Amino acid sequence: MNQIKAIFLSSVGRKYIMALTGAALSAFVFVHLLGNLQLFLGAEALNKYAVLLKSNFALLWGYRLGLGAIALVHIVVALSLWVENRAARPQKYAVNTQPYTDFASKMMVCGGVAIFFFVLWHILDLTGGVLRPGLTDAKAMLGDKEVTDVYHIVIKGIGHPVAGLCYLIATCCLALHLWHGLESIFQSLGLRNKVYYMYIRWITRAAVLFLFVGMCLIPLVCMLGILK
Ligand code: HEM
Repeated sequence: MNQIKAIFLSSVGRKYIMALTGAALSAFVFVHLLGNLQLFLGAEALNKYAVLLKSNFALLWGYRLGLGAIALVHIVVALSLWVENRAARPQKYAVNTQPYTDFASKMMVCGGVAIFFFVLWHILDLTGGVLRPGLTDAKAMLGDKEVTDVYHIVIKGIGHPVAGLCYLIATCCLALHLWHGLESIFQSLGLRNKVYYMYIRWITRAAVLFLFVGMCLIPLVCMLGILK
């Protein structure tokens, strides 16, 4: 217990926690995107995938609660580090000697806050169905079973111009957050050395570009009516 307390109290320990929780959240985002890209395979493929995800109640709620707890720790620890950094440097330097790091850390905090509100809205809208009554009621037949028609929920929900625009803005925030964040994970865990430095940079950047293109494509095809 004392060891856990010591990890949360030291800033090195908290950076480790940020890296580990950040890695878990990033893994979710990439798996979620791969799942969502099944939209391009048609209604049956996406609806089958959605049914599979919800087929085991214990697993579904285990993963939802686990993900929620990880996100909460990531946010609380990030805010504690940010407050501490600000308190340690109450006066701005007359000449800013670290313009890049300052800009990156400001972007991380602002982007993180924007992503938090986007995810809250996204879950209430597409999973909870509480923001647009009737949106998540769509049903489709999968063999002889009636299932939730996630394909048409996504097309209609994200195809709305205002909603689609919010997805595009959220994608930009997420891509910027991960552009800096993915590389930082390796640095915080002490895995970014002189030998692997360039490989890590290019692999993480390629992953973010893939995420950016994939996540922009979905709202664009929905808004432009390319997928119906
Ligand atoms: C174009 C982009 C996206 C699409 C099409 C999409 C689609 C969906 C859909 C359809 C659901 C509801 C699943 C269901 O209840 O059947 C969902 C849930 C969710 N999405 Fe997304 N999503 C997108 C982006 C994101 C992003 C960027 C994040 C996080 C940063 C995210 C986080 C979540 C979370 C946490 C849930 C709740 C998972 C659950 O209920 O088990 N999504 N998404």
